[in-house]
Amino acid sequence: MIELDLAGRLSSQADTTVVGLRPGGDAPTLSGWPKDQDKSFAKRHGQSLLQAARLIGASADQGVVRVIPDGDRRRVVVGLGQSQPDPESLRQAVASAVRGVTGGGDRPLRHIALSLGLDDPASIRAAGEGALLAAYRFTPVSAAAQPAGLERVTVVAAPNASARRAVELARATATAVNRARDLVNRPPNLLAPADLAERATALARPAKVKVEVLDQPALVRGGYGGLLAVGGGSDRPPRLVKLSWAPRGAQAHVALVGKGITFDSGGLDLKPPAAMATMASDMAGAAVCLAAIVAAAELDLKVTVTAWLALAENLPSGTAYRPSDVITIHDGTTVENYNTDAEGRLVLADALSRAGQDKPDLLVDIATLTGAKMIALGNSTNAVFASDDATADQLLAAARDAGEAFWRLPITAEARQALKSQVADIKSGGRREGGALVAAAFLQRFTAGLPWAHLDIAGAAFNTGEAHDLLPAGGTGTGVRTLIALLTALAA
Ligand code: BES
Ligand code: MN
Ligand code: ZN
Repeated sequence: MIELDLAGRLSSQADTTVVGLRPGGDAPTLSGWPKDQDKSFAKRHGQSLLQAARLIGASADQGVVRVIPDGDRRRVVVGLGQSQPDPESLRQAVASAVRGVTGGGDRPLRHIALSLGLDDPASIRAAGEGALLAAYRFTPVSAAAQPAGLERVTVVAAPNASARRAVELARATATAVNRARDLVNRPPNLLAPADLAERATALARPAKVKVEVLDQPALVRGGYGGLLAVGGGSDRPPRLVKLSWAPRGAQAHVALVGKGITFDSGGLDLKPPAAMATMASDMAGAAVCLAAIVAAAELDLKVTVTAWLALAENLPSGTAYRPSDVITIHDGTTVENYNTDAEGRLVLADALSRAGQDKPDLLVDIATLTGAKMIALGNSTNAVFASDDATADQLLAAARDAGEAFWRLPITAEARQALKSQVADIKSGGRREGGALVAAAFLQRFTAGLPWAHLDIAGAAFNTGEAHDLLPAGGTGTGVRTLIALLTALAA
């Protein structure tokens, strides 16, 4: 975990200093670089930092990064794009700077000071988040000693109460995203449903989030037919984890439901190898819910949150469920199974119907649910579906606050039509066209008419390309910032 703190002035402790370059009337100007520092810099180098930076191509364009060695320190000049950058631009610019210090894969230095000359809480928060998100590295599974990475980021700004809260928000938010990334990147042999339940417990307990784990016998007793069917092909049985954060003074109650398929082989409807390659990340929804509820507790948000992690491993075997099986979901609905690779909606159906029994004010599920979502929106935009316009707008507003890309898709009559069954109450699919909509229409059947949003993060949860700016290779933690923004907005 990387520390984030606040300092009133630039101290000499940091090995790397990031300062901003803003567009000016005639020429760009440095911001956050104190005069006395520049005097001593000029003594050592015979020119000002601005001159030195300009000589090697520094520019005020957003995200242009130049590194100027200064003894055993490094001064980093980053273009801010605007004279008063908005939080999203700032987050991106700082991320470019932190990545630029050592390039994509290497580890950054130990201690970075961000001195950008911006004192407002939104800028402080954005800068802190940008740095911590860009500095994330997965620690490889290895017995060998790993090089030490970045330990601390210090934001230089006037240290008043709102600045301190902004740092606290940035620290909790970025730490949550990085925790979700760590879970998603953990190899599937080392993260069976029971292991993920254990990790959830280990993260939740210190944050005073209550934990309840339903094991296989408890799932049988509770009639969780979706989880039992999907997990039935694996020797490593399913789990349903309930996490509760219920602070005094809370008014709203939000239930979060996460898809936690620790590995999705497709089951008997086996995926081809290329499609299976990234399916260790099919538990990203559960990781996001876990990270978000822990952050809500760390930030002491006055909102009641219940998170349900629906955990199973989807494998083919002699005990695996079949296409055309009829499965009874927790609420008693019978489902004709369309395809064993459409497993996510079955475990979510169990968890949604259980979550709905508590009558929360809002139900939100998040899942790497459909390849069809990736065809519709690509990998850098998430899909949101909702029971009504107000709920959709609530999610889209949270996403905008958080700086994450979401786009609303509809639940159409055509999609509902695809779920008709001759042998059960409902079928789990049956139409490839608009497949993301069909999945959403299925899930809605288990929401008891409550205000509900469904977030399909397929493709965006796992970056198969290169790291850039905020985005690492592998697990991205997409959705964490939006859920935290949503919970913050609902807190009393
Ligand atoms: N986990 C996959 C969806 C997915 C695909 C996520 C690629 C991320 C990247 C899901 O369980 C799945 O296999 N969905 C099927 C559903 C179909 C059989 C109705 C799909 O999208 O092909
Ligand atoms: Mn699948
Ligand atoms: Zn899946």
